[in-house]
Amino acid sequence: MPGAVDRVRVTTVVDNYIDNLRQDTAVARRYSAFVAGKMPDLRAEHGLAHLVEITRGRDRFTMAFDFGLTPDALNHNFRELAIEPSAIDALGLSHGHRDHWGGLTGFLHAWRRRLRRDLPFYGGVDHFEPRWQQRGERRVYSGRLSRDEIERYDVPVTLVAKPTTLAEGVWLSGEMHGAEDWETIPSNLRVERAGELIQDTFIGEQTLVANVRDRGLVVITSCSHRGIVGICRNAVRITGVSRVHAVMGGFHLSGLDEPRVTRVVDAFRELDVEHMVPQHCTGIEAIVAIAHRLPGRFTASSVGTTFEFAAPDGAAPSP
Ligand SMILES: [Fe+2]
Ligand SMILES: [Fe+2]
Repeated sequence: MPGAVDRVRVTTVVDNYIDNLRQDTAVARRYSAFVAGKMPDLRAEHGLAHLVEITRGRDRFTMAFDFGLTPDALNHNFRELAIEPSAIDALGLSHGHRDHWGGLTGFLHAWRRRLRRDLPFYGGVDHFEPRWQQRGERRVYSGRLSRDEIERYDVPVTLVAKPTTLAEGVWLSGEMHGAEDWETIPSNLRVERAGELIQDTFIGEQTLVANVRDRGLVVITSCSHRGIVGICRNAVRITGVSRVHAVMGGFHLSGLDEPRVTRVVDAFRELDVEHMVPQHCTGIEAIVAIAHRLPGRFTASSVGTTFEFAAPDGAAPSP
């Protein structure tokens, strides 16, 4: 039997979207003026950062998963949301694009003394390679994360190749094999190896997955470069849990054609996912399609929102 947790709480610290007027829903607590006690003052940018708090009985596991594009937005929002850095048990990075790690070293610089001393960092095998975008003859460098710089803050780096249990009922995906053949990766995304720019496969892309007791999997993705449908099916494969309860993150459908978006939404319907929180690089057309075609299952993202997915009331607590 795969392990299970009681509750997953995800606070979106950085995302592309902000809307201070949104109401709470069954799974979303908004950082409204009534929560803040003032006009909320949060930054949105093209990036993603999450604080994931997982509860199982008396145990708690907290991971900062991705770090936005800039330290300015990440550190500002951490302060505004009054997140306590000492509660973080581990850092995790989804992939090697700057809009997910750009805030990391500035975050460590600002908070290292308040973070736990034995703080691990989990990433994928290809996270430290130089990334580019290429369109025809034009190339744009989008940066390279330095492993040394992380380790300089006395944070040891662990590369996750295989599905890895972080706490009971919580996994990092490791390298994802068996992607859907129709979820192709846009050819403009390039990685530099041996001086050559080649098509990026994002083999090291990490997904954070938790199994909520009597509900199913909560899948927290980032940019979903290997394909959001394949990522959900891979989460089912590696955990042995057949039901996907919630999916949140960037689905990377922005700029892709309508048939691809339609096929993804069809697949979500087939997977019978109960809660969808499309964020970051999902793109407005795909967000609209999910909201229209999966009514009652869509929850809008907004920076500062805490999404909560919990075991049903009355179920026995985990030992
Ligand atoms: Fe990306
Ligand atoms: Fe991204």
